Amino acid sequence: MSQVQLCVNVDHIATLRQARGGNEPDPVQGAIICEEHGAAGITVHLREDRRHIQDHDVFALRKVIKGKFNLEMALSDEIIEIARKLKPDQITIVPEKRQEITTEGGLDVKTNFKRICEIVSVFHSENILVSLFIEPEEEAVMLSKESGADFIELHTGAYCNAKVKDTIDKEKVRLFHAASIATNIGIRVNAGHGLNYINTAPILTMPGLEELNIGHSIISRSIFTGLANAVSEMMQIINKKK
Ligand code: PXP
Repeated sequence: MSQVQLCVNVDHIATLRQARGGNEPDPVQGAIICEEHGAAGITVHLREDRRHIQDHDVFALRKVIKGKFNLEMALSDEIIEIARKLKPDQITIVPEKRQEITTEGGLDVKTNFKRICEIVSVFHSENILVSLFIEPEEEAVMLSKESGADFIELHTGAYCNAKVKDTIDKEKVRLFHAASIATNIGIRVNAGHGLNYINTAPILTMPGLEELNIGHSIISRSIFTGLANAVSEMMQIINKKK
């Protein structure tokens, strides 16, 4: 089994910045730190409502990311145009609803099949990998392969949200089953959504798993792992006053 790679989703650094409307914290600086500490790449979601990551962020990120730059995007003409100018290493197509708190559910590959096929060929002509964020269901995996996409990203949300052991086990089986179909038919496997410091380890042996996209839990944890230093630094400034 080869090493599973981590792509850190830095959207919520931008969420915090947007709360004040200034320049900090800067997701670009965050991306640099993530890569310096072992992340194989950086993921951001340029949403149509621009609630966190902004257009200037993605172009600034393109200049600093050394590993894989994975841009999550909806089936939106406006974002497709930006992505073509940006040239990330990979796009991940996700469903997007305006009122949602975060991405809910996987892409409906069947309904959007023709459009997805067109987008796959547009990005392939620019040498950009295409991943489809889907539920761990056989039909979605098969259609993803048929569309020509390079990767599926299996939606781990139901597994992560499950509270009782029985449901957790069932959701894990669904993920492993979908991943094994994908490896059998020759489409590469990523996974993500809701993964944290407890539920990540049990899914690392998923067949063919290459990359995990993890955001919220890492950014949340960094507040507490970084808070002690942040307070100490301010205390030093205050105590040097006089
Ligand atoms: N993968 C996809 C396709 C997503 O939309 C998101 C959330 O933006 C993630 C992974 C990361 O999820 P989380 O922030 O819960 O780790």
